[in-house]
Amino acid sequence: MSYTPAADRYEKMVYRRCGSSGLKLPAISLGLWHNFGGDTPHELKRELCRTAFDLGITHFDLANNYGPPPGSAETAFGEILRTDFNGLRDELVISSKAGYGMWPGPYGEWGSRKYLISSCDQSLKRMGLDYVDIFYSHRFDPDTPLEETMGALDHIVRSGRALYVGISSYNSQRTREAAAILKDLGTPCLIHQPSYSMINRWVERDGLKQTLKDLGIGSIAFSPLAQGMLTGKYLKGIPEGSRATQGKSLNPDLVSEKAIANLNALNEIAQARGQTLAQMALAWVLRDGGITTALIGASKSRQIEDCAGAVKNLNFTPEELAKIDEFADEDGINLWAKSSEGAGQ
Ligand SMILES: NC(=O)c1ccc[n+]([C@@H]2O[C@H](COP(=O)([O-])OP(=O)(O)OC[C@H]3O[C@@H](n4cnc5c(N)ncnc54)[C@H](OP(=O)(O)O)[C@@H]3O)[C@@H](O)[C@H]2O)c1
Repeated sequence: MSYTPAADRYEKMVYRRCGSSGLKLPAISLGLWHNFGGDTPHELKRELCRTAFDLGITHFDLANNYGPPPGSAETAFGEILRTDFNGLRDELVISSKAGYGMWPGPYGEWGSRKYLISSCDQSLKRMGLDYVDIFYSHRFDPDTPLEETMGALDHIVRSGRALYVGISSYNSQRTREAAAILKDLGTPCLIHQPSYSMINRWVERDGLKQTLKDLGIGSIAFSPLAQGMLTGKYLKGIPEGSRATQGKSLNPDLVSEKAIANLNALNEIAQARGQTLAQMALAWVLRDGGITTALIGASKSRQIEDCAGAVKNLNFTPEELAKIDEFADEDGINLWAKSSEGAGQ
């Protein structure tokens, strides 16, 4: 069945400038890390993408390794581009990344020029694209000269494979170094992709948020719902079929009695604001303009609809923020801490 996008899609979303660049991104973006692999029916993937686009979500985030198996999310999205999104390429911002293990041997991960450029070529082939809008170094590589990794990103832009480049999970110091190299090369760093949520605030402690502001780099906060914990989903414990039951990236031990009590308290604050917990969590990430867009994942269309509603109220009173701080306990949710500490894994 052919797809006609909602005519009013651009009236529903808010678009925010990405740092000091010319590119605007939707306040809510959709990531294809989970629910786009071979274990999810293709019809559901199509439905999720169409629902997002109908709500004005123009930005879709991928990486070489999203699946399972690795690469299958890009293949599925490529199919959707050809069927549902045919003719809409210029209305979309599509990103991909390389950094984590993708193929066997010494050239299939980290930050060498050899890996980044060949991985970008593979991603383009899987998606059937001539170029991606944004290509990222997915993690800092402590053993490769930063000049080499940034030089590869610069080459990816100059050779027409990407329009812009970004970095993910680099800490404040490494971000400054990377941005300076890119600036010298003449390819500015458009965007940083860190994890960030009410219960994962490393970007504030590390100074990254301020660094990005200083340097005019935009930002896209991933896992702003703490993989689903900051939604109504876990208020009564762990429901069947949720990410915490799948043995993947969300450790069920994090959904402890104490965490559930805190989530219920946060939910009450959200209700008093007239929002769902997910909407409040997204509004919180976007609250002070320091983050350009919140990068959600979804297993159901209604989750995307709920999340998109966050843009209706992005303002908080100081009392609300203080109350949130009381219950927003940081407790081991940041799986990406090693990368931002600059360490190998
Ligand atoms: N750069 C990196 O290293 C990196 C790392 C991780 C992620 N990312 C990017 O960030 C994207 C988002 O990550 P994430 O999936 O962890 O984000 P998230 O938005 O924190 O969590 C998404 C999960 O929350 C649940 N959910 C979402 N909206 C909901 C709602 N309204 N009500 C109830 N439950 C809701 C769903 O869980 P259920 O599946 O349980 O329904 C969904 O799969 C990824 O797809 C990827 O593009 C990047």
